[in-house]
Amino acid sequence: MIDLHCHMLPGLDDGASNLSVSLQMAKASVDQGVEVAACTPHILPGLYHNSGSAIRQATLDLQAALDAEGIPLRLVAGADVHMCPDFVAGLQSGRLLTISNTRYVLVEPPHHTAPPQLEDFFFNLAVAGYVPVLTHPERLSWVPSRYDAIKRMVRAGTWMQLTAGSFAGAFGRDALYWAERMLDEGYVHLIATDAHDVERRAPDLARGRERVAKRVGAEEAQHLVVTRPLGVLEDQAPSSLPRALGVADVELGTAREKVEERRRRGEAREHAHPADNVGGFSGRLRRLFK
Ligand SMILES: [Fe+2]
Repeated sequence: MIDLHCHMLPGLDDGASNLSVSLQMAKASVDQGVEVAACTPHILPGLYHNSGSAIRQATLDLQAALDAEGIPLRLVAGADVHMCPDFVAGLQSGRLLTISNTRYVLVEPPHHTAPPQLEDFFFNLAVAGYVPVLTHPERLSWVPSRYDAIKRMVRAGTWMQLTAGSFAGAFGRDALYWAERMLDEGYVHLIATDAHDVERRAPDLARGRERVAKRVGAEEAQHLVVTRPLGVLEDQAPSSLPRALGVADVELGTAREKVEERRRRGEAREHAHPADNVGGFSGRLRRLFK
């Protein structure tokens, strides 16, 4: 699996407080089945003054420490970029970071105040050629009053990244409700850990994947933690990746598959499952990191 949002770099924000915690988080990620993690510390003017170049260097340093410890986790640099003025100019200058230098950028809005011009902000990013990834919308206190706007944003090209722990109730009942609703309705493209430590907010992608698989099936769960994240790292266009499927889509797909299955009855068994969207995962990862 690929975790595109975590706070594993030591001492840069409210995530890992030192290298020892970073190493424990990396080991915990590997135990969960994660092969690649994007290190995405906060960039928040006035609180976390992380620059793109400092994050890149810290990611290289942590990768060297993981390699020295024999921890089999590949790191890429990114950032959890809070909404701020001059966002596009910041990305273009390198002051702000996309995920692994791709068109995909994590965007974190304020938690308790709906930002004015929300839709314009995301629209402007798309016009500039980026794919904005709205982080953990299920945990924003203003989502109930702006859900229609969020749905419009997704239809206009914004991606949504939900937190794995939300599906297990780690962020409370409201976050659980919205996580399940957004997933069921087909508005979720990625799940990631947003891990900050190994205790209160530990890497838990396997558990999150299990929870979402129960609602939308194993194939869509795979898309949430493997297929689309790999597409992000390869900087593929969103149109070339599987669209987010909700419960109704999955049920419709299952019904179609049953009809197909009846048609195929009698055919050789090896032809029963022609589509394997994750084929060649290891090879593609190797190519990315060679
Ligand atoms: Fe975060």
